[in-house]
Amino acid sequence: MIILYTSNTGHTKEYAMMLRDALDLPAYALADAPAQVKGADAIYLGWIMAGSLVGYQRAAKDYRLLCVIGVGMTPESKEQTETIAAKVKAPENVPVFYLQGGYDKKKLSGINKAIMNVVEKTIMKRLENLPEEEKKQNPVYKMITEGYSVVSEKHLEPVLQWYREKG
Ligand SMILES: Cc1cc2nc3c(=O)[nH]c(=O)nc-3n(C[C@H](O)[C@H](O)[C@H](O)COP(=O)(O)O)c2cc1C
Repeated sequence: MIILYTSNTGHTKEYAMMLRDALDLPAYALADAPAQVKGADAIYLGWIMAGSLVGYQRAAKDYRLLCVIGVGMTPESKEQTETIAAKVKAPENVPVFYLQGGYDKKKLSGINKAIMNVVEKTIMKRLENLPEEEKKQNPVYKMITEGYSVVSEKHLEPVLQWYREKG
């Protein structure tokens, strides 16, 4: 089994590297994976762009995906996981996980930056009314106002549990 990932600003790659170290599996960026691993069993991690899991279609075409992981800035929730799962339409027996990553506008350019200029405003409108103290603690608020990441190994625990139990 191998790990494949697509990352724009590094957060998904960080999760992929943590998973590589925890499971002792080879990891490759989907775009740079060597030809000889084509068709291999794989865990796929991709960043979420406007509700879509970037790279999923290509990964699903070229590899036998056993597990799919989306990384976005939205907090982890059952709803967010279900939304991603519904979008990718992975086969029933392929688990789909969602992990909160990070966001830093300084790392964006071009169309991604332009999209987020608009999206940020919508998100900030929702967060603006929070009490000042709560705002300062809110990871998404911090992501937008100063650049912030919540990437940590503890978020990977459900994935590690799936791996241990998959038999
Ligand atoms: C153009 C664009 C669209 C995004 N859309 C979403 C989204 O729909 N849902 C979400 O949770 N995060 C969204 N994000 C945030 C990224 O998914 C988040 O920053 C993620 O950690 C990026 O991973 P990376 O650092 O590996 O590229 C978006 C970011 C960009 C730049």
